[in-house]
Amino acid sequence: MTKTVATRPYLDQKPGTSGLRKKVPVFQQENYAENFIQSIFDSLDGFEGQTLVIGGDGRFYNREVVQIAIRMAAANGFGKVMVGRSGILSTPAASNVIRKYKAFGGIILSASHNPGGPTEDFGIKYNTGNGGPAPEKITDAIFERTKSIDAYKTLQTADIDIDQIGSFDLEGMVVEVIDPVADYADLMEELFDFNSIRNMFSLGFRMVFDAMSAVTGPYAKEILENRLRAPSGTVRNATPLPDFGGHHPDPNLVHAKDLYDLMMSGDNAPDFGAASDGDGDRNLIIGKDIFVTPSDSLAILAANAHLAPGYADGIAGIARSMPTSAAADRVAEKLGIGMYETPTGWKFFGNLLDAGKVTICGEESAGTGSSHVREKDGLWAVLLWLNILASRGDSAREIVQQHWATYGRNYYSRHDYEGVDSDAANELVEALRGKLDTLPGTKVGDLTVSEADDFAYHDPVDESVSKHQGIRILFDGGSRVVFRLSGTGTSGATLRVYIERYEPDAARHNIETQEALADLIAAAEELAGIKSRTGRDAPTVIT
Ligand code: G6P
Ligand code: ZN
Repeated sequence: MTKTVATRPYLDQKPGTSGLRKKVPVFQQENYAENFIQSIFDSLDGFEGQTLVIGGDGRFYNREVVQIAIRMAAANGFGKVMVGRSGILSTPAASNVIRKYKAFGGIILSASHNPGGPTEDFGIKYNTGNGGPAPEKITDAIFERTKSIDAYKTLQTADIDIDQIGSFDLEGMVVEVIDPVADYADLMEELFDFNSIRNMFSLGFRMVFDAMSAVTGPYAKEILENRLRAPSGTVRNATPLPDFGGHHPDPNLVHAKDLYDLMMSGDNAPDFGAASDGDGDRNLIIGKDIFVTPSDSLAILAANAHLAPGYADGIAGIARSMPTSAAADRVAEKLGIGMYETPTGWKFFGNLLDAGKVTICGEESAGTGSSHVREKDGLWAVLLWLNILASRGDSAREIVQQHWATYGRNYYSRHDYEGVDSDAANELVEALRGKLDTLPGTKVGDLTVSEADDFAYHDPVDESVSKHQGIRILFDGGSRVVFRLSGTGTSGATLRVYIERYEPDAARHNIETQEALADLIAAAEELAGIKSRTGRDAPTVIT
């Protein structure tokens, strides 16, 4: 039976870079999740009788919110929900299901790469019918609604069985519990040359995929070990756990250090290493003895995409987030295709992909993807790498070195200062903003500032404008430093400093990254006064 429950607004339900993310105890407050989900529904039009996709990365509290969302979808008039078995769907798989079955939209439960558990992070985000994260127009409307909501609709019903594949009626709405992996694995099989990758494995190619006890485990097992016949054990930490085994499911050099150490262990290291994050949309790529930065990976994938059947006709264009290095720009230039620079956040790629302006997108934050879905896609990136390796017959190191020799190398690093005082972080950015006009032409150490601005994006498709997306300081010769505050943290502020130097000379392509960037790192400190303003001597994380 449908019932309407009176509620009171929470004033902190503003969606960030990727949906609403809070600590689990915040979500466990009375009606907290219900308020947000009802606010999503109240901000949408025309879903009566339509399909809603529901799934998440399996973290702590996933099952509870899946139950809440199914009941509320029924009470609000959806005709059908498609839910991944046991409430599981990786973020790219959810995007695929929304598109493939022409759903109205989807609710994805995840806090991505943030830790999970009773006192850790949880998140809810809404994706639209194109399979992508809701644009700001919708997330702003949702936030507005959360501030005045006074009731939500739900069903009075026992727990819904989400653990068996099949369909049943729930008070007039169809609940279809689907295999979370099958549709996604089929899509990958269409895009990539599984025969030649299978052949590479059969000839002894060794890889390790670290699923980080998160959602990609079952996907990677099915695709890599079952369909591509990589040896069993290729996928590690393959069982999704509600707390990710107590780790951060963040595929970077800090949290996937075991994989990194293995790949750097000399002759016996596997040929290829990869990892994905909590909800399966990020990727980490490490060749034997070489870490590939996400920015380089984007450029290399774009330059070689035509080797995979799904991209044999070439790519229409490339998009990258502003802080991502300009390595991909050089590929676009050579291919004579469009290059777009967007604010941080995958949602900004949606319009470009829908309009057919770009095929491949990427972000420095370990996200790469294409027009096959409207989310970044960790396993997709891994499979495109495998397809390229199989097709070229070169090692990952050779592919990277040859890429640099052709296009030049963009040395790149990101320094994060996590959990800093929010006021101090805001003041740091404000102070930089205040002096932007005076910087061009001045010297910082030996570097001369050529341009300085506060990045604003003009969407070429819907003409919307997004301001204050990061402070850019560009130096003569193509080097730059970017400052921005993270939009995904859940405690205090995270200051991100992105540092990049372009080096055309192949004789200078094997310098240690921090060393190659030392003068720019010093310039960032001089410009922003990070130490004095944040009280931090060093970054928390360097990637
Ligand atoms: C999420 C988003 C990405 C974004 C990343 C970092 O993964 O989906 O699009 O690049 O967070 O965002 P942040 O605001 O923390 O730098
Ligand atoms: Zn993620």
